Amino acid sequence: MRDTAQPIYLADYQPPAFLIEQVELTFRLAPKTTRVVSQIRFAPNPAAAPGQDLRLDGEGLTLIAASIDGAHVTATPDATGLSMAAATLPDGPFTWEAEVEIAPEGNTALEGLYMSNGMYCTQCEAEGFRKITFYPDRPDVMAPFRVRIESDLPVLLSNGNPAGRGPGWAEWDDPHPKPSYLFALVAGELTARTVRFTTMEGRDVTLNIWVRPGDEDKTAYALDALKRSMLWDEQVYGRAYDLDIFNIVAVDDFNMGAMENKGLNIFNSRYVLASGVTATDSDFAAIERIIAHEYFHNWTGNRITCRDWFQLSLKEGLTVFRDQQFMGDMRSHAVKRIEDVLTLRARQFREDAGPLAHPVRPESYVEINNFYTATVYEKGAELIRMLRLLVGDAQYRGALDLYFARHDGQACTIEDWIAVFEDAAGRDLSQFKRWYEQAGTPKVTLLEDWQDGKLTLTLRQHTAPTPGQPLKEPLLIPVALGLIAPDGTELLPTQILELDSPEQVFRFSDLPTKPVVSALRGFSAPVQLAHAQSSAERAILLGHDTDPFARFEAGRNLARDILHAMIRDGARPGPEYLEAMRLALTDHALDPAFRALVLRLPGEDELAQSLHAAGHTPDPDAIHTARRLALRRMADALAPDLARVVEDMDTPGPFSPDARDAGRRALRLAAAGVLAHADGGAKARAIFAQADNMTEQFGAWSALLAVGAGAEEGAQFHRQWQGDRLVMDKWFAAQVMHAAPERAAKIAAALTDHAAFDWKNPNRFRAVIGSLGAHPAGFHRKDGAGYRLVADWLIRLDGANPQAAARVSTVFETWRRYDHERQALIRAELTRMQDRPECSRDMGEMVGRMLG
Ligand code: ARG
Ligand code: ZN
Repeated sequence: MRDTAQPIYLADYQPPAFLIEQVELTFRLAPKTTRVVSQIRFAPNPAAAPGQDLRLDGEGLTLIAASIDGAHVTATPDATGLSMAAATLPDGPFTWEAEVEIAPEGNTALEGLYMSNGMYCTQCEAEGFRKITFYPDRPDVMAPFRVRIESDLPVLLSNGNPAGRGPGWAEWDDPHPKPSYLFALVAGELTARTVRFTTMEGRDVTLNIWVRPGDEDKTAYALDALKRSMLWDEQVYGRAYDLDIFNIVAVDDFNMGAMENKGLNIFNSRYVLASGVTATDSDFAAIERIIAHEYFHNWTGNRITCRDWFQLSLKEGLTVFRDQQFMGDMRSHAVKRIEDVLTLRARQFREDAGPLAHPVRPESYVEINNFYTATVYEKGAELIRMLRLLVGDAQYRGALDLYFARHDGQACTIEDWIAVFEDAAGRDLSQFKRWYEQAGTPKVTLLEDWQDGKLTLTLRQHTAPTPGQPLKEPLLIPVALGLIAPDGTELLPTQILELDSPEQVFRFSDLPTKPVVSALRGFSAPVQLAHAQSSAERAILLGHDTDPFARFEAGRNLARDILHAMIRDGARPGPEYLEAMRLALTDHALDPAFRALVLRLPGEDELAQSLHAAGHTPDPDAIHTARRLALRRMADALAPDLARVVEDMDTPGPFSPDARDAGRRALRLAAAGVLAHADGGAKARAIFAQADNMTEQFGAWSALLAVGAGAEEGAQFHRQWQGDRLVMDKWFAAQVMHAAPERAAKIAAALTDHAAFDWKNPNRFRAVIGSLGAHPAGFHRKDGAGYRLVADWLIRLDGANPQAAARVSTVFETWRRYDHERQALIRAELTRMQDRPECSRDMGEMVGRMLG
């Protein structure tokens, strides 16, 4: 039996004692007294030791009755499940039947079967199915499911194909064997937008998006994204859908983004519902990405799943990589790559540099829900991107074909994954595999030496210790590199240097002139590159590099160096920087979306992270002040250009969320945002007044808030949108995110008293408390008011929804970066959170790791 606070180890994996041939479930739905009858056909696993007890997971279940092969048995559940002694079991296969009672209405943890606005829904990944019935709730036990739902609600859904419908009941049949975490059930008063899709194999599939009545007009974009995802997976990976129906349901109360349950994806409504007037361009992009992500899981996750939860990145890293490829194809590869790298650094590098660092394949956990992290997802995707770079595009496709052919219907490991690449590419990848096992962001140092027409590059790698991993081995790091002449012409197109030792030297000869080195093109590896370059060299790369990511990065490095100098010794942004920004801003040959990214300064947390990495103790107030000063200088120096860009980047005609118009709006708002630091927000106010779409309405209001204005616009925004939950999340978040540092905690506290602050709704909780945690200068107020407010609310949420509370607790993960006074204040809050007898396993593990 599992002591719930004890860690589970990858090394302890044992195959399941019993496999399952068939599952039949009947649900009699009632808010307080749902009955679940299960009939499970077990057979001893030939690959396991014979004669073992039957152990079934189960949490919070009231056992009504149980039988084996029709004969009543007495079972006494403990806190985590029940056991049937081997001696009491028949030899060979047998049928276990049980009836349990559960209360979905009181389920505030949003795991298992719960209710959201009167509808029933489920979330079973990772270990929620054990809150529905007794079951071997582990991903390597796969079975076909047949489900009967009894309820008077009009829409009754489960996985697979419809298998019968009558008054007060519906049946579903899922022929594809699946692990319990992919089970789903939905019942409610719902309405669907429907289209049909014919797969390349000729299968006619009904696609439905189910929403609450009134929301139908916000489903068109998601449905179109679904069709495009299905087509893309056929064209790019040769994978077709495999059921007659694909259902998506939007749910308001949901812990994560969405869930890939077989044939019945359940989504946080913020990643489904969108119209031009209620959703921003980033919302549309997030919907497109997550719809694709969950759909792509049908092959990478569902058909081929994980042997155990340590292998989570097997499905998540791969599916994120696939959704990144898809988004690049749908929009712009250059812009998408830059955005992905920015997210990686903001979330994963941050995680990797602190007490929560863990390998892409962790070796132990207490609560697996705490490992749905940027490392498992985003770094996992980077590892696949590197694999593709190392073996080449054709072998990548060959490896994936082999993966699907070899492992369809199986529960697999990272070893299986590496093996298909080794076999397809004929290459030993054992050193590469360390990327899965070793935590921490490697630092790669590049030193240049130029003599007699010869360029010598010395590359070094070093990974600092992370919790539990004091010593690091050298990794196989692909460094994409090119050379640019001072006049901007390319002297050497991209080469992949394979760095596999602590230090290596690469030589380039016959060069007509001393080149500018363009290193880590496309961000070819998830490393921190230390490469000293002059501002002049950076300006050349920003203006001329053939690799769009390297261009962006050169501008970013320029901005970062200047901001560091401003923060540390009160320097001012010099004319070269302002001129480089002006050139990028006004270069009509460049994609507006790209120009918007270049114009945006590194954020406060990114600056704290880079200062810390450079050996300094970041001061959140100094960072905030310097960044505002830089914006002010930019606004003063570039005012006419910024104003012209605001005028030029209008998007006449009806609203379209496509990448082209979205890029124009992004640049327009970025320019107006900078300009607000000089014009008091006049341009932003005009955009707000004329806006016919949420991107501009919300973007302009945010720009006003950032310069201490926007009160009137905020009131108007509230009047207009108080009836729309998703827009109201924005209203809550923006006021905290853009508050002046000294006011942020006060504003957040006041918003928690607002009648519409429904703290049990994860989106709303994050909009206020999560936003405060994401406002470095506000959260890290010297008097500790930010820390106290967040800790108070985390403690309250922990009592209702431990998973959500544990997730938001990561706002504290960077605490060791800061000064002793701040550390002492945070330590006291973390200790207060941990020292409660009722502290959840989820929160206990997170806080324990953070305190170290
Ligand atoms: N598999 C889902 C996705 O990435 C995430 C669900 C995670 N849920 C959880 N409670 N841990 O699409
Ligand atoms: Zn996923």
